[in-house]
Formats: sequence, structure tokens, C-alpha cells
Amino acid sequence: MTREESILDVKGLKTYFYTRDGVARAVDGVSLSIQPGKILGLVGESGSGKSVTGFSILGLVDHPGRITEGNLLFKGKDLRKLNDKELRDLRGNGISMIFQDPMMTLNPVLRIDLQMIEAIRAHDRSIDRKSAFSRCVEALQQVGIPEPEKRLKAYPHQFSGGMRQRVAIAIALLNKPDLIIADEPTTALDVTIQAQILHEVQKLCRENNTAMIWITHDLTVVAGLADQVHVMYAGKIVEEGVTGDVIDRPLHPYTVGLIDSVPGNNHRGKPLKQIPGMTPSLLNLPEGCAFRLRCSRADEACSKVPPITEPVEGHKVCCFHPYLPSPENRTA
Ligand SMILES: Nc1ncnc2c1ncn2[C@@H]1O[C@H](COP(=O)(O)OP(=O)(O)OP(=O)(O)O)[C@@H](O)[C@H]1O
Ligand SMILES: [Mg+2]
Repeated sequence: MTREESILDVKGLKTYFYTRDGVARAVDGVSLSIQPGKILGLVGESGSGKSVTGFSILGLVDHPGRITEGNLLFKGKDLRKLNDKELRDLRGNGISMIFQDPMMTLNPVLRIDLQMIEAIRAHDRSIDRKSAFSRCVEALQQVGIPEPEKRLKAYPHQFSGGMRQRVAIAIALLNKPDLIIADEPTTALDVTIQAQILHEVQKLCRENNTAMIWITHDLTVVAGLADQVHVMYAGKIVEEGVTGDVIDRPLHPYTVGLIDSVPGNNHRGKPLKQIPGMTPSLLNLPEGCAFRLRCSRADEACSKVPPITEPVEGHKVCCFHPYLPSPENRTA
């Protein structure tokens, strides 16, 4: 792994929700760091804490949730110490977010040009409307929207779902943030549109040296997009490493389960494997390894919390019985 300085360093982040039924440890000791221009894939099943991790970084966790522990350093600045105004200035300028539903970004009753110009001028009043409009044209061009001058005069409902998401991505990129957190933005799109958008986003990140955290439950998306992958289960990172290593030589039984449940060439004519059981409720997790009740390799040792292994070339796993990095071992 490169020694280049990180743009974001998250250490031991804990975000808990204090509900009437108990404490949900949605993010329970997550650490990650990302360098400029790199893409980090954060992968896991529904409810594993991916979105809450993203919201925590942006200071968007509301009651009954709160960050209870951990360091969040962005360009060396402690994000937990920022006040509301500083956080607002940071969002969109330093860090921006792309949501699964583009309508979380777009205002349905405002023309696209007005929304985009406002997004630019909110961070820099010295830019006049004409120059801001030119920047909007360029931004829509970058995400592959044809006839941008004309399309800018439209309202969000006059765009298809894929085009709306492209606009939301263009807005996230407008102020050339150093970091983008993308929360499953292509999940609702068909695969060809998804592939085009992924390709364009990857290109733009490289060109602008923008770092990105791409949140998804879909390992195939991460395989083609991310430089490094963090696999999340029940609030914890259970495996992390360079994308090729994690996908080709997964160590954690949960990662192996995720990979085996993806349709692919190896599965032609064979039924897909699935991970047995359900994601456990965060209010009722088993002692020790949260995955152990679904894991074919679990034994008594797993009733204790597994340690994180010493990294081998940045590849780490949190498991007492990881798969050894050889395909023959993947039979259990
Ligand atoms: N407002 C809330 N109140 C109580 N608990 C919450 C709240 N928001 C999140 N949680 C808890 O945090 C857990 C993780 O939620 P999160 O939205 O991060 O999951 P996710 O990995 O993004 O899932 P998905 O793939 O479905 O988006 C939830 O399962 C829930 O227990
Ligand atoms: Mg989510």
C-alpha cells in the first residue's frame, strides 16, 4: 500500500443509536484511510453500517444516533471539532455526497441550472452567474449529458432516472471536492447505464485527483472500480486490502460468501450459493464474532472477538479461521 499522505483518516469510529429497544452499535470501531485520487469500496449486506459510516464522516448523524468514539481527520483537520457552519462549508466544497436517490440532492421544483449555479455560488460568491452557467455546462458534459445548455433549463422530472443520477454526480463534482462519498448511487440503474456511470466517475476522480468512498452491497461494482476494498459486517470491518487481493484471495468466510453469491462464469449451470441465515439484529448480536452463527468454519474460539491479523501487503482480516490464500482451501 502506498505511503502517500491520506486525505481522510478514520480511526476507531463508533456511532451508536440509543433506541428504546437498546443500543444499536451501527458503526463499531471502523478505521479506514484513503489517499487523493483513490477509490475505496465499502461493501456489505443491508444494515451492516455502511451509510452510517458515510454520514458520520459528514457530520450527518442525528438523534438517537451519535458518534461516541474515534478520530475523523480530513486533511489533518479534526472533523469532530467543527461547528455547524464549518461543517456546512465543508460539505460540497471539501467533501460531497452522492445519495442512492438523486432526489435527495435535487430540488423537484427548481430548474437544474438554478440549482447548479446556486451550488457553485454558495461556496464562492465572487463567481458571476454567467461563468457559473459555463461551469454547469462543462460539468454536465463531463458526466455524459448531451446538449447540456438545453438540458440545464429542464426540471428534474424531465430527466430519466439515469440522467437524474448523472446530474446529482455532476453537482457532487462541481466544486472539485477532495473527497466524495457515494452511497449506492447506481444501485437503482440498469447494468449498462451503471457501467457507463462507473467508468465516467472513475475517470473524473483520476483527472481531478478526487478521493472517493463508494458504498455498495455489490462486489462486482467494487471489483471494476475501487483501488481498495473494506468489507463490513455488523458495524465492523472484517476484511480489507487491495481490491485484486480481496476479490481473488478472500480470507474472511463472510467475504468468500459474498463472492460466491455473485452470479459469474463459474456458476453457469450451477445454483448460486448463498450465505445461510440472516444479518443479525444489531440489538441482539452474538458474543464474539458477529458472523459466527452463519459461518461454517466457526468453533468455540469464535465466541471471543477475533483480533485483526497483521497485514500482508495491506491485506488484513478479522477472523480466527481465515481461508488460507489458496483456492484449494475454499471448500468448507
Ligand atoms: N435513525 C436510526 N435509528 C436507529 N437505528 C438506526 C438508525 N439509522 C441506522 N440505524 C442502525 O444502523 C444500522 C446500519 O444502518 P446503515 O443505514 O448504515 O446500513 P447500510 O449498511 O447502509 O444498509 P443498506 O445497504 O440497507 O443501505 C441499521 O441496521 C440500524 O440498526
Ligand atoms: Mg445504506
